[in-house]
Amino acid sequence: MRALVTLVIGLVAGVLLTVIAMNSLRKGTAYPNGVMAVMAAQMGHLDRQLKAKACTGPDLEAPLATLVALGNDLEPAFLPTGDDEAFSRYAGDYRAAVERMADAPPADCPAADKALDAVSATCKACHAQFKG
Ligand code: HEC
Repeated sequence: MRALVTLVIGLVAGVLLTVIAMNSLRKGTAYPNGVMAVMAAQMGHLDRQLKAKACTGPDLEAPLATLVALGNDLEPAFLPTGDDEAFSRYAGDYRAAVERMADAPPADCPAADKALDAVSATCKACHAQFKG
């Protein structure tokens, strides 16, 4: 009987600890995952705008403003990493690319394509080192 009680207590404690651990893991990744999900969605909006040949300042303004603002959330969401200095360098490259595109809106679709490629290159550069 005592062995059974001990077994049940052990099982209950195990389940509780698993739930607690899963919750804290989820909390730990919700912020970075959220930042990346919104970035990807806004890049998708921009891509669709360009494909629809809507490539001038007002067409791109809202998604670009969001991408600029999200640049402020990279370090708070991801640090600490294995190499915070490199992470911040990639984050800085990203911020420079989106700010450049937002501050000097492309004149036409080829220019918009080029600017968006430059932003996308900064996503890929950071992912190459930090995305597992
Ligand atoms: C400074 C670093 C950095 C920049 C810049 C960056 N990312 Fe990320 N991104 C990451 C890291 C790190 C992960 C992996 C997160 C994880 O595995 O928890 C990631 C994951 C993602 C994911 C999730 C993929 C998956 O496996 O579920 C998407 C989507 C994404 N990024 C899109 C983007 C887009 C689009 C941009 C550019 C507009 C961008 N990222 C710019 C660091 C960055």
